[in-house]
Amino acid sequence: MSNVWSSEVSFENGHLHLSGISASTLASDFGTPAFFLDEADFRNRATAWGHALQNSFGENAGTVYYAAKAFICLELARWVAQCGIGLDVCTGGELAVALAAGFPPSKMELHGNNKSVAEIQTAIENGVRTIVIDSLVEIERVAMAAKGHGKRQRVLLRLTPGIEAHTHESIATAHEDVKFGFSIASGAAWDAILAARRHPEIELCGFHSHIGSQILSMDAFGIAADRLIGLLARYRDEFGQELPELDLGGGYGISYLPEDDPLQPDEVLASLYKSVEASCELRALKIPRVSIEPGRAIVGPTMFTLYEVGTTKEVVLEEEGTRNYVSVDGGMSDNIRTSLYGAEYTAVIANRVSTANLIQTRVVGKHCETGDIVIRDIKLPADIAPGDLLAVPATGAYGRSMASNYNHVPRPPVVAVNDGKARVILRRETFTDLLNLDV
Ligand code: LLP
Repeated sequence: MSNVWSSEVSFENGHLHLSGISASTLASDFGTPAFFLDEADFRNRATAWGHALQNSFGENAGTVYYAAKAFICLELARWVAQCGIGLDVCTGGELAVALAAGFPPSKMELHGNNKSVAEIQTAIENGVRTIVIDSLVEIERVAMAAKGHGKRQRVLLRLTPGIEAHTHESIATAHEDVKFGFSIASGAAWDAILAARRHPEIELCGFHSHIGSQILSMDAFGIAADRLIGLLARYRDEFGQELPELDLGGGYGISYLPEDDPLQPDEVLASLYKSVEASCELRALKIPRVSIEPGRAIVGPTMFTLYEVGTTKEVVLEEEGTRNYVSVDGGMSDNIRTSLYGAEYTAVIANRVSTANLIQTRVVGKHCETGDIVIRDIKLPADIAPGDLLAVPATGAYGRSMASNYNHVPRPPVVAVNDGKARVILRRETFTDLLNLDV
């Protein structure tokens, strides 16, 4: 059984505390709904992934690129830099945040299946270390932009190794019928290699793959690495040179529910090293420098969402029994993962002890939509009532970053808590913010 709460969360007589501050104090100081971020836990996870890559890969350790899409803001980008790891951005917007935070471009990587010419230009102009190329068109765009700046740009080719990792369909990215990357099996990857080699402005450093997200077993990563290494061998055989780098993406799972049992960074990377070493040995290849891009595994466990309960309603079910619908003051605008992927979460009443019976409950939001569900099925105390605080753990990844203004609901703030102090690092949106867009 694993723990779904970040390291500085504790419970005293049923009251949830983060770094010693009670949920009630956090709610009255910052309002609800809000994301509370455990800064120490974030820093520890970011550092742990960096160390684990070094420990397992030694001189073949590339870079741990934190995947900004999971969550990014200026302050968090600074922490990532302070923890000594790199940053993966996949749009001009994420790149803009990183540059505004002063994140060193020499430790950044640019992704995306449809990077605009402007995004490519900005990346090259600012010295972003690596561009991960996703299409033939983009090879031409990168070559042109690099030429325009008189630079030679380091690139990796994003490949689809033909693996469906065990995860929800819309977050599995490396089987064949997807928009991402060049397929190895169909020969598209080889065509891309030939195209990249035609441009002196492009320095082809190696290959990339990202096989999916919230993956809890290592097998798929090993198979993906093996297929990429197979292509490194073919490249060596054809051109008499070895490409020096692989980036094996992110996707490492976390615990959303107490029964989820994710591997620790050291275990993940020791296992990955073994696979890479074996695949290289088989083909008499030097072990390449290996980079990875965890997003969820770094930020996911570090935040919980705090909601206030607004209404409860007992609904009689067709089959048998009843379900308690508990409505909170957020919903699909701050957590779309339940309706989009069928994601599962747990929750606790954070402001008091309850000894009431646990009953069948559905936690729903305040949006005008039946699918606006935060937790589809959970047992919660029967006496849960308006004014109670409900804390949902493990919402740090793809929570605030996928938040929307549906129904003109302002997006919640992110409040960092560290050493007994809480401060807003991304403020709550206001109605004025929303109205400012109207012309
Ligand atoms: N690298 C690449 C190229 C990616 O596409 C992604 C995620 C990552 C790294 C980071 O993956 P992570 O370690 O966070 O699993 N919105 C979905 C997840 C989409 C992931 C997209 N790509 C969710 O909420 O589950």
